[in-house]
Amino acid sequence: SGIHYITHADLSSQQIYNLIVSAIQHKHNVKYLNKQSGQPLSGKTLAIMFSKRSTRTRVATETAVAYLGGQPMFLGSQDIQLGVNESLLDTSVVVSSMVDGIMARVGSHSDIETLAKYSTVPVINALSDRYHPTQILADLMTMHEVFGPQPKDESSYVAHLTHPKETLPGLKVAWIGDGNNILHSMLVTFPKLGVHLSVATPKGYDPSKDVVKIAQDEAVKTNTEISFTHDPKVAVKDADVIVTDTWISMGQESEKAKRIKDFAGYQVTSSLAKDGGAKPNWKFLHCLPRKQEEVTDEVFYSPRSVVFQEAENRKWTILSVIDALLVKKSFD
Ligand code: CP
Ligand code: NVA
Repeated sequence: SGIHYITHADLSSQQIYNLIVSAIQHKHNVKYLNKQSGQPLSGKTLAIMFSKRSTRTRVATETAVAYLGGQPMFLGSQDIQLGVNESLLDTSVVVSSMVDGIMARVGSHSDIETLAKYSTVPVINALSDRYHPTQILADLMTMHEVFGPQPKDESSYVAHLTHPKETLPGLKVAWIGDGNNILHSMLVTFPKLGVHLSVATPKGYDPSKDVVKIAQDEAVKTNTEISFTHDPKVAVKDADVIVTDTWISMGQESEKAKRIKDFAGYQVTSSLAKDGGAKPNWKFLHCLPRKQEEVTDEVFYSPRSVVFQEAENRKWTILSVIDALLVKKSFD
């Protein structure tokens, strides 16, 4: 059934770098050189099966497929019932018999695994309750742009002149928030690239033990530091990047009141960064959508915050994933 893109736990560091480098080249070619794609997906269709809402991932995917000359076919949960009216197995066999790729946003991670198992075409994970791999590619691309050589003016893009291998290893990222799908994806990705990660989650909101184990096994091999605490101030020490996410992920709406109480003290503020001793030039990342409780406006709309650059980079990284799976048919 060809190759899928489900989690970076399945990819080598070189393959992850290849996706980031390709995204940077696409951004340079499309945004700055205004180059056409040559329509390699002409006559081909990517089914976009989403059982949850999306702004960034959907817009990034539809525009990326259009750029490559293909047809994005959005199938929301009102259009087809992923695993509701029909088993996922049947849906996967049927849809994959007519399209060239499937991008799916699901609840349970086992749903994306089932789709991939029975699909005859490549499957891309557009978020599950366990992982959100395309998001982490955009985060890494943004960190490369921010910590690499800076352009002289807005109209020159220089990120493609250096390799992320020169900019990413050694950076320290502090996660302040929920032990959720975004953190899980960072845990299975960062140690492969030598990006240090210090994690603060409230008690009871720790990341999954099996994901932590994957991260720790990898971290030993690459000499990367991974640490866990329940004190946000401890986590931000010497951080180059502070990152958080919503405290209430899609599907957890009924837990809102309890979560807001349990996450007291976890709001990202400039005093948290200062008191905890983050690096003077620390930057702020957030996958969005964002609520005020997890980060103040003062940080979110400050020059430290690179959230909108990160959001735009969803497009270039998703373009690189689609290009790898449907055009090059390889991550190598
Ligand atoms: N960050 C992200 O995945 O956003 P959407 O849910 O809007 O796609
Ligand atoms: N953790 C969030 C990420 C949204 C992009 C969620 O799963 O809803």
